[in-house]
Amino acid sequence: MRIFSGIQPTGQLHIGNYLGAIKQWIKLQETNECIFSIVDLHAITVPYNSKVFSEVVLSKAIEYLACGLDPEKSIIFIQSQVKEHTELAWLLNTVCPLGDLRRMTQFKDKSKKFKNNINAGLFNYPVLMAADILIYQTDLVPVGKDQGQHVELARSVAKKFNKTFGNVLTVPKVVFPTMGAKIMSLEDPTKKMSKSTPASCLFLIDEPKTIEKKIMRATTDSGKKIVYDIKKKPGISNLLTIYSLFSGHSIKELEKEFKGKNYSEFKKSLAKTLINGLEPIRRKTKELTNRDVYIKEILNKGAKRAQVLASSTMEKVRGSMGLLKLD
Ligand code: AMP
Ligand code: TRP
Repeated sequence: MRIFSGIQPTGQLHIGNYLGAIKQWIKLQETNECIFSIVDLHAITVPYNSKVFSEVVLSKAIEYLACGLDPEKSIIFIQSQVKEHTELAWLLNTVCPLGDLRRMTQFKDKSKKFKNNINAGLFNYPVLMAADILIYQTDLVPVGKDQGQHVELARSVAKKFNKTFGNVLTVPKVVFPTMGAKIMSLEDPTKKMSKSTPASCLFLIDEPKTIEKKIMRATTDSGKKIVYDIKKKPGISNLLTIYSLFSGHSIKELEKEFKGKNYSEFKKSLAKTLINGLEPIRRKTKELTNRDVYIKEILNKGAKRAQVLASSTMEKVRGSMGLLKLD
């Protein structure tokens, strides 16, 4: 299977990104042909700091590698290095109905949040995302729940393209993790953990003390029991999900283990599990920091490999759309 996914270089990676997306990627790279991108062109659709942007992009590559993405097994590259993404995005713009883009909840949310900068790029964001996926003839797109609507749009654009111009593009499928597809905020467990609200997040490279502080402070529910009940106890349910995914114990086992114990005992134990679970990522991130030459070499190689695949699709797309080819 051909796999494609990406993460925007905005803020640090948090455990939602890890459990919703990256953890799946690491498993998938063992038996599939995987392509993972740092999607910088998506990140610039909202206000950002151009002075430090290239550093943020490099730090994202470090985080990818520290999490266990392996450049020997997967193609790892920066989106803007493979120009075919933007070329295909333009062509797909002519296929994608305006009404479909207007329905995108992420666009609605972000245009509320960035009222003074509702640019055309933000609106067309899902078309570029469709291009990212379709240019590699991707079979599977592993993402968290919030990206489901965008992948659905990529599917419908591919179908419409094929219907109009012939069977050129693979129609991809989305894959969500069975658990952890939507990790909730530590502050407000009715909202998604999101980089744009740092206080809601547990970051992968948070120091042990910070992890403990954040978990002990995490919003919980009234009552005393450690039981999974998403409606009545969203806070404890979210923490149980995180605990289960980091410990490998099922939620049922955890409920049994913490029967009769209080929230504070449960949280202390969870913090310990997270400190241990995230230790290798923290350590590898430190090891890779300041190894710019090595990181850039990986990204360069990745972009070259990706471009071979991307240009092959572009050749077919251009031909099927009737764009003149000069010898
Ligand atoms: P982003 O941080 O928006 O670039 O998201 C990168 C990946 O992480 C995407 O696949 C998202 O669906 C996933 N993701 C982001 N936030 C969460 C969350 N709170 N829970 C689960 N997955 C998430
Ligand atoms: N929009 C995705 C996010 O915010 C990132 C992304 C861009 C992506 N292109 C993609 C994810 C293609 C999967 C496939 O999380």
